[in-house]
Amino acid sequence: MKILPYQPDQSGLAYSVGTTLDRFIKLKQSDFPFASGELSQLLRDIALAAKIVNRETTRAGLSNIGGAFGQVNVQGEEQQKLDVIANIRFMRALSKGGEVCAIVSEEEDAVIDLQNTSGKYVVAIDPLDGSSNIDVNISIGTIFSIYRRKTPTGSPIQVEDIMQAGTEQVAAGYVLYGSSTMLVYTTGCGVNGFTYEQSLGEFFLSHPNIQAPKNGEIYSVNEGTQKEWEEGFKAYIDQCKEKRYSARYIGSLVADFHRNLLKGGIYLYPATNKNPSGKLRLLYEANALALIAEQAGASATDGCQRILEIQPTTLHQRTPLLIGSSDMVKEAEAFMNCSVEKPLS
Ligand code: F6P
Repeated sequence: MKILPYQPDQSGLAYSVGTTLDRFIKLKQSDFPFASGELSQLLRDIALAAKIVNRETTRAGLSNIGGAFGQVNVQGEEQQKLDVIANIRFMRALSKGGEVCAIVSEEEDAVIDLQNTSGKYVVAIDPLDGSSNIDVNISIGTIFSIYRRKTPTGSPIQVEDIMQAGTEQVAAGYVLYGSSTMLVYTTGCGVNGFTYEQSLGEFFLSHPNIQAPKNGEIYSVNEGTQKEWEEGFKAYIDQCKEKRYSARYIGSLVADFHRNLLKGGIYLYPATNKNPSGKLRLLYEANALALIAEQAGASATDGCQRILEIQPTTLHQRTPLLIGSSDMVKEAEAFMNCSVEKPLS
């Protein structure tokens, strides 16, 4: 019997399809000493739910899953059917996996206790970000944060397991359902992006080690709320215009953030009369993107404080958000008035 060592084909007949998310997660597991593989499995569970939500979003105009669901969520926002579907899908994936003990979701008033006290992780998730864009074929997303529970496994979950500052995240990521579907995540060792290959049903590494430009020429803000801005904030946006920066605002945080992360730019959602503490939610929107931003060399602040250092006090707490290229965020921060007392959300 003849035995030969495997020699990869050099003829160029079969091109490489690249590294799958699964393989990448496995390769990276060794970055964590004593890792037991549960975080890796949890990331795979999220990726599976993302594939299902991706399938639903692409069918949104065909099947009866577009439009309003007929209920209002805890934020007072009208839930879309796809918000509800995405929430069900992620809840199901996270509860079946066995690694998670509790979930905070934009679509749920309370913390969801999975009654799985052996689960080490807590997940905070916005299952479908940018829902006003669902029915008009514009990019939407999913945002997630993963925390290790503080109390010992085997005991019931406690407030301190949930109310953790963003610095405590062990992983965070987002899925962008756009012109292609991408999953971008960090476990605190850089940021990597994966593009979904529909025909193979797999995410492939397409954006290794994402580095955000230090500076940029894009600003993303809802200018319709301008009359409600503080003077300093107005002055910063005026400066963006004087510098002839491009205004780009999709109205889906994930999509605006992703573009600015790759091209250089800043996304801003300040305090307004309607949302005196800002609009975006700390636990399942701002924290995840702030960790990704910092891991890619960008930054995130509420104008006065690093987002990741804000100690949450309520589940659906809101925060102003200035996030993007580090030089731009620093410049914007210099315009903000940090002496005024902020209202509690
Ligand atoms: O989750 C909040 C969100 O939909 C973000 O995705 C988006 O950036 C923002 O709100 C849009 O808010 P507005 O319609 O007030 O500009």
